[in-house]
Amino acid sequence: MEYSIKDISLAETGRKRVEWAFKEMNVLNLIKSRYSNSKPLKGIRVGCCLHITTETANLMTTLKSSGAEVYLCASNPLSTQDDVSAHLVKNENIGVFGKRGEDNKSYYENINNIMKKEPHIVVDDGCDLISSLHKNPSYATNIIGATEETTTGVVRLKNLASNNLLKFPVIAVNDANTKHLFDNRYGTGQSTIDGVLRATNILISGKIAVVAGYGWCGKGIAKRFEGMGAKVIVTETDPIKALEAAMDGYWVMPISEASEKGDIFITSTGNTSVITINEILKMKSGAILGNAGHFNVEIDLTELEKSTIKKTNIRQGLDEYSLNNGRNVYILGEGRLVNLACAEGHPSAVMDLSFANQFLSVKYIRENNPLEPKVYNVPQEIDIEVARLKLESMGIKIDTLTKQQKEYINSWNLGT
Ligand code: NAI
Repeated sequence: MEYSIKDISLAETGRKRVEWAFKEMNVLNLIKSRYSNSKPLKGIRVGCCLHITTETANLMTTLKSSGAEVYLCASNPLSTQDDVSAHLVKNENIGVFGKRGEDNKSYYENINNIMKKEPHIVVDDGCDLISSLHKNPSYATNIIGATEETTTGVVRLKNLASNNLLKFPVIAVNDANTKHLFDNRYGTGQSTIDGVLRATNILISGKIAVVAGYGWCGKGIAKRFEGMGAKVIVTETDPIKALEAAMDGYWVMPISEASEKGDIFITSTGNTSVITINEILKMKSGAILGNAGHFNVEIDLTELEKSTIKKTNIRQGLDEYSLNNGRNVYILGEGRLVNLACAEGHPSAVMDLSFANQFLSVKYIRENNPLEPKVYNVPQEIDIEVARLKLESMGIKIDTLTKQQKEYINSWNLGT
């Protein structure tokens, strides 16, 4: 079997961690046992480009036990957990391509390795695999559809579609309610704090945290900083989100002002050059900067390097930049997704929701082939089913609408 990983001898550590994570993934567990006999994905080759984490390993084995042939490459050079890759290769016979800390060349070679398998269905996180397939259409001839995990990936796909260039149907898993309302908010919220703490071990209480972007990720990050005792400043470009942040009780101001005040800065906008060298040069000496957005473009590191006299690695995931204005700033995880570069990514219980959506969307593509080349929402019945199963697994019961209530909310003439 073809694979490219760091160290196969890590397989046993990986196995134990993957099994531990699965204990919190009740919906995926249920799906795995439901479909391992009927094998609805038999004959389908699924090429995945995802963060290689314990939760992803459990998605891979669920797809495989439902009959699919699966291949996996990393969706970020710094998010791969090498013990997980070793476990998938050695114990699960799954071809994995990705090494933590790989350079850009090897990152794209690994994407190429997945393309060469000529998959029928693609599961992507950030749209790098899908956009590579659009640049190399000879590998895309078998494709019947794809799914996309994150906000930035969906933005890129919608740009492809609006230029009439999208070659196959893609389901925007990120846009399911049971994905972004939970994964982006609670998952990124908790794991970003985890990343900051693992890389620095600083006390958050009493610090001023600046969160750039008050979308689903930003809301979660701000809330968790607040919960840890930080004073939180939010920066935004959207007036509605800015108003929401203000009414949620946060200080709202432009990044140019916030840069003088903050102790910790986290970007989560999906946009580029959110913190430029102009802001960095105004920051207090000792300011810590990290990014939770998909790509490492939110903090302008190229310009930062130019204003840096000396760069020192302080500890894992933390680099000190001594600036030519006499101050020091600290960058977390090379400006890559801080929750994955400096910690382990989202907790399993929340990835359970995202990956249940992924699995059911892959199955939907297979069962509804051919679909038109468009960006689709996750079908509502899947979204609701995932929520229902998760509630059940948490032992939470809810009410059901009575006949009278259904009639009432569907009428226009029943006032008083
Ligand atoms: P979103 O679209 O809900 O929110 C982004 C917000 O950033 C918007 O409110 C937008 O107005 C704001 N924004 C854009 N440019 C800005 C600027 N220059 N300054 C301040 N605010 C600005 O997106 P979401 O779901 O919160 O995702 C954000 C990023 O995080 C994306 O790149 C997404 O792919 C990524 N992501 C990362 C995860 C992780 O594990 N770290 C998990 C999920 C998403």
